[in-house]
Amino acid sequence: MSGQRKFFVIGNWKMNVDKARIDHIAKFMSAASLDPNTEAVVGCPSCYLSYARQRLPDEIAVAAQNSYKVAHGNFSGEISPAMILDSGCEWVILGHPERRTIFKESDQLIAEKVAHAQQTGIKIIACLCETSEDREEGRTDDVLFGQMKSLAASISDWSRVVIAFEALWASNTGVLATAAQVQEALAKLRHWLRANVSDKVANSTRILYAGSVSSSNCRELAQLEDLDGFLVGSAALRPDIVDIINARRPDVSSLIAHFDRPDGRRA
Ligand code: PGA
Repeated sequence: MSGQRKFFVIGNWKMNVDKARIDHIAKFMSAASLDPNTEAVVGCPSCYLSYARQRLPDEIAVAAQNSYKVAHGNFSGEISPAMILDSGCEWVILGHPERRTIFKESDQLIAEKVAHAQQTGIKIIACLCETSEDREEGRTDDVLFGQMKSLAASISDWSRVVIAFEALWASNTGVLATAAQVQEALAKLRHWLRANVSDKVANSTRILYAGSVSSSNCRELAQLEDLDGFLVGSAALRPDIVDIINARRPDVSSLIAHFDRPDGRRA
């Protein structure tokens, strides 16, 4: 948690929306009072980028969930950062854990995608992840630092990059990472940046946590020293995302309850 790093929440819709669902989400996000101290973004399937951009309020940015490593050419099924920008969207998620694990994207390919995206001016949410096997076999540090090293080698302008760490073992598995586990992982990544890139980058780069973030656990996690926001999956499809965007805002209902009692104690 640092004053110099604006809190950042991306709700990643994955492959779970259609126009009707985007309308529904846009409706409750537009009606909500969102903390202006949070940078809010949604991760949208490529075919709906322009549609989502039109439906959402301007203060919510739109990200694509992937992009290829060149601007154009004979690469059926792919989209480029230039196309995302041309659709009116400013961000792209690269190296999402589902790209790494299901689609077997290597560190090398992700690094090439990041390097190309950096040349275009698009802003990047670069993801790293830890699987349950990594954790059980005690190779978390090697895996995370390896992914970070590969990403960092492709990044020239850190001001346009946000790092997202996902504990895959805590994503829709019924197991939740504790606040201490999240802080430990994020602190290690920030330390890596300090040791291998620079103090400036370590102090200014936002590091997000992902893994079943919801309205129930976001407030506690939002207070962690090295946490600067969240990458949210399932809860991004529900009004929970509003609570998560507002996770650092004082809880108005508890303040009202507090002041309502004559003895000043919480109701
Ligand atoms: P989750 O997904 O919040 O449903 O765990 C996060 C993500 O993978 O983007």
